[in-house]
Amino acid sequence: MPVPSAISLNVSESQHDLIITRPTTGLSLRGRIRVPGDKSISHRALMLGALAEGETTIEGLLLGEDPRSTAKCFQAMGADISELNTTLVKVQGIGLGQLLEPLDVLDAGNSGTTLRLMLGILASHPGRFFTVTGDSSLRSRPMSRVVNPLRQMGAEIWGRKEASLAPLAVQGQSLRPIHYHSPIASAQVKSCLLLAGLMTEGQTTVTEPALSRDHSERMLKAFGADLTVDLETCSVTVTGPAKLKGQTVIVPGDISSAAFWLVAGAIVPGSDLTIENVGVNPTRTGVLEALEMMGADITQENYREAAGEPIVDLHVRYAGSTSQMPLKACRIAGDLVPRLIDEIPILAVAAAFAEGTTVIQDAAELRVKESDRIAVIANQLNRMGVRVTELSDGMEIIGGETLTGTEVDSHTDHRIAMSLAIAALNASGTTTIQRAEAAAISYPDFVTTLESLVVS
Ligand code: S3P
Repeated sequence: MPVPSAISLNVSESQHDLIITRPTTGLSLRGRIRVPGDKSISHRALMLGALAEGETTIEGLLLGEDPRSTAKCFQAMGADISELNTTLVKVQGIGLGQLLEPLDVLDAGNSGTTLRLMLGILASHPGRFFTVTGDSSLRSRPMSRVVNPLRQMGAEIWGRKEASLAPLAVQGQSLRPIHYHSPIASAQVKSCLLLAGLMTEGQTTVTEPALSRDHSERMLKAFGADLTVDLETCSVTVTGPAKLKGQTVIVPGDISSAAFWLVAGAIVPGSDLTIENVGVNPTRTGVLEALEMMGADITQENYREAAGEPIVDLHVRYAGSTSQMPLKACRIAGDLVPRLIDEIPILAVAAAFAEGTTVIQDAAELRVKESDRIAVIANQLNRMGVRVTELSDGMEIIGGETLTGTEVDSHTDHRIAMSLAIAALNASGTTTIQRAEAAAISYPDFVTTLESLVVS
């Protein structure tokens, strides 16, 4: 890997460690980049493409490990998906209810979205038997949040601890429609049940306590499903049985990946970055609101829409000075949380460079993500000198400490790996991020992009 003059970035021989050494003279990030395709939209495009009749063309698919897991699972059930070696992918759909019984265990890898959404599809395929699993992280994540409502619909699912943990076995059934009041705002729960509802005669409704990301709703409508949304009550109803027709899906850049550069641009002195083609679906833009509260200098340019999703170019400039910290503390809680849930690790990094105490609450969900993101980011940032205190449902971060490079660990969580890399840009000396290869789950080119942006 080339070593630019301003910073040395090394992936160690084991390909597991990312080593970042900040020069004593400092560095800036400058340039125009694109981030890879949105992970949530990529999963859904592959799944709906597989379930639709006819061909679906996906432009801008994320070629990360997670969508690859989705593609493999649906290929094993008969969908014809072109090779994921370019972001232009074609899916020959097999038709709703027509998935084949796979001859082996379906492996969702590290991907909660793959496993939870797929369970709704499998449970509603009468006469087929499926077994599903994932990596050690996914096998420890709660599945009862989808298994319980699916069982209310008549699903037959078995597994450890009352089928709350993968591996799971599913005997597909004709399900009955329900109105499910979800205790959590979760797009995975909502989408799982809507997908089960596609094959179920009658109206399946999901009501959630706050609005979670609505990519499933937008894409299901585009594929021809009969779907109604009531924003007042945060309810969605799908009427089955549905018929889906192949579409062209244009996947915008992932705002969750752009968030790393937004925070880097806001905290690394002298930075000026443009991130083109970023999806700004309002159910995902909590990170922009949080950074605005913190005083970051971010502007949105060239608003347009593609395949039902809003897109902009984001421009971020460092706004600090020698006498002033670049950001100010804020409070992140309530309905804002589901709209920035995946960005909390990188917002914790931003908070380390904000004047005052940033408080993050109502985010207990973070404890059951790819890692316990509250404990992991708090511990790893503590190691670098940040004053973070864990709360049961969030954390408190006191900004303003000087960060020192040291050994930190991603705990195989992609978003933790990248958050720590951004923190390292403002830490003195050398930071070694162990198990940083996890970034490939959602951002395979993260290190190369970082290298391209660093200037001395
Ligand atoms: C996702 C929903 C969110 C998010 C995850 C992707 C999706 O999870 O954290 O990264 O694509 O539906 P929850 O539904 O568990 O909140």
